[in-house]
Formats: sequence, structure tokens, C-alpha cells
Amino acid sequence: MIQPVGARITGVGAAVPASVVTNADLERLVDTSDEWITTRTGIKQRRVVSENETATGLAVAAAREAIAYAGIAPGEIDLIIVATSTPDNLYPSTACMVQAAVGAQRAAAFDLEAACSGIIYALAVGQQFIGSGTFKTVLMVGVDIHSRFLNWEDRNTCILFGDAAGALVMQAADGENEILATYLRADGTGGHLLSIPNYGTAYPHAGTTPPKAVNRYLHMNGRAIYEFAVNAVPEAVRAACARAGIRVEDIDFFVPHQANQRIIKAAAERLKFKPEQIVSNLDQYGNTSAASIPLALRDALARGQIKPPATCALVGFGGGLTWGAAIIRWTAAERQMTEGFPNE
Ligand code: COA
Repeated sequence: MIQPVGARITGVGAAVPASVVTNADLERLVDTSDEWITTRTGIKQRRVVSENETATGLAVAAAREAIAYAGIAPGEIDLIIVATSTPDNLYPSTACMVQAAVGAQRAAAFDLEAACSGIIYALAVGQQFIGSGTFKTVLMVGVDIHSRFLNWEDRNTCILFGDAAGALVMQAADGENEILATYLRADGTGGHLLSIPNYGTAYPHAGTTPPKAVNRYLHMNGRAIYEFAVNAVPEAVRAACARAGIRVEDIDFFVPHQANQRIIKAAAERLKFKPEQIVSNLDQYGNTSAASIPLALRDALARGQIKPPATCALVGFGGGLTWGAAIIRWTAAERQMTEGFPNE
């Protein structure tokens, strides 16, 4: 049985930095090739912030697009959740900065950290606030600027990530139950497999001036993360479908976290999704962490790949380890969404 939760997605938006870094550009930085990156990951290019661009700036641009798409006034927003692992500062939270910039004066605001699964966690939290009747309108933003934490001399990691923000507006719906179910998991015993260490208070010299030289780059065990992901994604989709009271065969579109095309393909095969059901724009943007799912969703709506009515399985996985899924019945009337980003 589908549990009516009365929350639906009414707005989608995204923003990316203007600067494009191609695989050919990376060939000049590290010992790699376009051929290696393309066959191992599916990534052809990614966007990278300039010196004066920030997570807040990208988040605000994505939020504004989602707010306009939803056709709401910023003053209607009750809660802002920003999912990010790369905030501008430890505090104020990125969510509070977004609240000020978009003029959502009534909204409560906080950041949520679940790495690349962040937007799925945010969806689940927003759904709870709406389902309980506490709030009517929630803005969720996933934003990450991993380029500031990459070792651009490490070919194992620097080729994978891109910077971006994606946003969703969730509203209480009269008689509509478009978020059918969410499913969240975590396994902290695998935390060391994907981490940005030495950034927080576990590093005793964090406050010294000048800061001591320290390796605070992103670290990853690629093979272990790959194995984790190809198992976690099908598990999350099956569990979320079971909670929604639907079969995996009822899913029209698979919107996975965009980390690696081979992971997406392997998971899709296990779930028996056909190629045309897979939403992917990884080739253009790389792994944009918490932003990737709304960025891919926005792209699929703009390209007309997803047309309502459509049941979509959104699936995240990443550092923590964390993973999870949300099943969304996309029934909103099709609205105009252009392929170019408003912030460009
Ligand atoms: N260019 C060329 N060669 C590279 C390279 C690059 N950018 N990166 C690694 N290599 C080399 C390695 O050094 C290794 O060489 P060696 O055998 O001489 O030591 C060789 O390629 C094979 O490396 P391996 O790690 O076995 O490759 P892989 O097939 O596992 O692919 C990843 C590596 C990172 C693409 C893959 O493991 C992966 O996608 N993992 C998941 C990562 C992910 O999604 N992270 C984010 C999750 S949110």
C-alpha cells in the first residue's frame, strides 16, 4: 500500500560555473588520456569554479531557478535545507546564506552533510516536515565544490569531480502524493574509503597561522567505492519501491547519482532498466556530488526525456558511507525549462 505523505516536488533548478575543463585539459595536468577517462568513467568534461565563485553563489542561482519553476514567492518558504560537504564556511551555514540571498525571511535553515547522498537525505527530511504538517514549503539545495579539495596532481581523483548546484522545491499537496517513498542507509565502517581528512577539528593545527602544511585533499579507494555502489544502488531502489508499494518494473526513469557511467550501467542492468530509462548527464558535468541528482533531473526535463506522468527512482550513494533512494511520481504539468542555465 502506498502511504499518503502529501508532499510533492514542484520546482527544479540547477547552476554550474561557466568554466569548462575537458579531458584534454587534464591531459596537460596529469598522466592520463581522454580515452582512459572516457572508457573508465564516461566523463568528457566538467565545470570548475573560478577563484571568486562560491558554494553559496551556485546554491542561490539553483534555488532561484527552482523557486521560479515552482511559481512561489520566496516568502512562502518555511524551511531551507542545503546538502553540502563543501560549505563556504563552518558557519554561518550555507543554508542561512541562501535564505538571506533569496529573501526567504520566514524560513528556518540548516545544512545537512551526507556527501553525494545529501539531496536524497534532504528529500527524506523535507518529506517528514511536510508529512507531519509542520511546514508547507521546503527548498532543498545540493551543492558541492570539490575542485577546492582535489589534488590536481592525483590522476586517480582529479578526473572525476565537477562543481555544481541543484535545487528542488517540495510542497504540501492537496490530494497528491507524489513522493511515494524514501529509503536511507549509512555504514560508517566504510568512512575511510572516501574522505576529505584533516579539514575539521580532528586536525589539531587547523587554527594555526600560517596553517601547517597538511594533506587535506579528497582520498578515495576507487575499487572499493565501485563495489559498494553497484550493490547499494539496486538495494536502495528495491527497498524504496517496496516501501512505495510498487514494483521495480513500474519505474519509468532511473535518476542515479552521477559518479561513473560504468556504475550506472551495472546497477541499471541489475535492475533490468532499459538504456532509454536511464537519466545521465555525467559526460558533461562529472561527479557533482550532492548536486548531481537535481542537475540530471533538470537536464532530463529540459531535454524532454522525462515527461509527466512518470515514476522516477532517484538514487544517491557516497561518502559516509551513505546511500538512499526516493520514488517520485512526476505528474506536474510540463513547464517551460530551457536547456541553458539562467546563471550563465
Ligand atoms: N588516467 C590513467 N590511468 C589511471 C588514471 C587516470 N586518470 N587513474 C588511475 N589510473 C591507473 C591506475 O594508476 C592503475 O594503474 P596501475 O595498474 O599501473 O597501478 C590503473 O589505471 C587501473 O586503476 P584502477 O583503480 O584499477 O582502475 P579502475 O578500473 O578501478 O577505475 C575508477 C578507477 C576510479 C574510475 C573506478 O574505480 C571508479 O569509478 N570507482 C568509483 C569512484 C567513485 O564513483 N567515487 C565517487 C563516489 S560518490
